[in-house]
Amino acid sequence: MSRGRRPGVAVLGAGRLARALVPLLVRAGYRVAAVASRSGRSAKALARRAKGARAGSDLAAAAASAEIVLLAVPDREIAPLARNLARDVADWSGRTALHHAGALGTAPLAPLARRGARVGVLHPLLAPGAGPAAFPGGARARIEGDAPARRTAERMARDLGLVPFRLPSRPGGPDRAAYHAAASLASNDVVALLAAAVDLLRDAGLSERSALAALIPLARGAVDRIGEEGPARALTGPVARGDARTLRAQLRRLARLDRDALRAHLALSARLLRLAASAGRLDRAGREEIRRAIEEARRGPARGGAV
Ligand SMILES: NC(=O)c1ccc[n+]([C@@H]2O[C@H](COP(=O)([O-])OP(=O)(O)OC[C@H]3O[C@@H](n4cnc5c(N)ncnc54)[C@H](OP(=O)(O)O)[C@@H]3O)[C@@H](O)[C@H]2O)c1
Repeated sequence: MSRGRRPGVAVLGAGRLARALVPLLVRAGYRVAAVASRSGRSAKALARRAKGARAGSDLAAAAASAEIVLLAVPDREIAPLARNLARDVADWSGRTALHHAGALGTAPLAPLARRGARVGVLHPLLAPGAGPAAFPGGARARIEGDAPARRTAERMARDLGLVPFRLPSRPGGPDRAAYHAAASLASNDVVALLAAAVDLLRDAGLSERSALAALIPLARGAVDRIGEEGPARALTGPVARGDARTLRAQLRRLARLDRDALRAHLALSARLLRLAASAGRLDRAGREEIRRAIEEARRGPARGGAV
């Protein structure tokens, strides 16, 4: 934590992100003045983690009680909430309103900016876990907004243990769609892949617990290797070895169990083939064998393939 007085914060929303933020804000020396949510119930439960915080469903009263207002509500609720707050809180000069939606810029906060608020975005590039290690060291936070709001958000990000960064400017604004798609590929889609992998091991007779115990160190090892060596060098498995026979067996088994997982594996194997080829990891014959196995499976069983 850096030194200096921390301003009062109102947290609007008491869901997954807010539950991670509040204890960290308290630990970093912010005064959490109020927590408010639609129902009020979740806010009351969360406010117990911040001594002296008001709690309830009065969002305007909560916002009026603090210098920094965090709109930690679902993405689609940010614009309507900002409109209501602009109507219900008279004076926004001297306040900073931040939301946490990675896919959005500051446009949903425009009604507050028109009332004099500084507006910005602080998007933790991480699905927070429970507990004090909600944001393990090194996680990034995307920052956007007017200059004073950016300064406030950057300072808050650092205080929370996050490393702030900005997407480069583009003529039509920063490429948030690419950013958010990348974030989903790297986290949500990994959840889907591991769920499919667990299903396969359960089909082979393991319990979910045993399946996870087998798969998690494997997945973690792959991620660690990518971090250390980059994707091309971290690559292992049948595609990287040009082992089309093993790949075909995998594709046939997936075709019997889960066609969506089969399609995902085909698409990802094609991506791995490009990666292995561009890194010079496969000779021409190996590349051709793998390409043929993928093409056959894509054409389907009627023509001798797996799909
Ligand atoms: N979860 C993550 O991993 C994560 C990571 C980075 C960024 N974010 C961003 O953080 C924001 C919040 O996401 P979340 O995952 O915390 O959502 P969440 O778990 O669904 O929680 C949403 C909270 O907002 C409250 N709420 C909903 N509509 C409201 C309204 N109109 N007025 C006031 N409160 C309202 C809900 O109140 P009740 O409790 O009363 O229903 C709930 O407490 C989103 O912008 C999301 O993109 C989330």
